[in-house]
Amino acid sequence: MVRVLFVCLGNICRSPMAEAIFRDLVKKENLSDKIEVDSGGTGNWHSGNVPHKGTRILLDREKISYEGILARQVEENDWDAFDYIIAMDEQNIEDLGKIHKADDSVIVMKLMDFVDNSPEVDVPDPYYTGNFDYTFQLVSAGCIQLLNYMKEKHHF
Ligand code: 4NP
Repeated sequence: MVRVLFVCLGNICRSPMAEAIFRDLVKKENLSDKIEVDSGGTGNWHSGNVPHKGTRILLDREKISYEGILARQVEENDWDAFDYIIAMDEQNIEDLGKIHKADDSVIVMKLMDFVDNSPEVDVPDPYYTGNFDYTFQLVSAGCIQLLNYMKEKHHF
């Protein structure tokens, strides 16, 4: 089993969006028994909450399930539980470094690192920009490329 944890700040806008989109792609490719997906926030303000309304509206529109997705904070032992920790922006990477030191056994990267010629290196936070549509486009592109990368690397 390959395990992926998506991370943002609040775990209510971007990373639950990534979790739902990636889980949907994995299911459609019949890889649910090979790839496990979760998300977390570097902050704890929204622990236990469902995704932000803006994220839910986009996922509903695209008919992507977010059933069972509730916010939680990233923990130190996530470095034992996951193979990939995929952050939305550079601040997340910095904050993750405070939770756990760099560890060769876990790939810690930003989602946009997987997209060639991405217009953004960081996924803009729609909690502040209000533009959930643009974030959805970027996160979707990132999830497709991340899955391609994993399929090639793990021979799925
Ligand atoms: P997210 O957005 O990191 O994409 O979930 C945010 C959600 C909540 C807050 C910040 C960012 N907040 O400060 O409460």
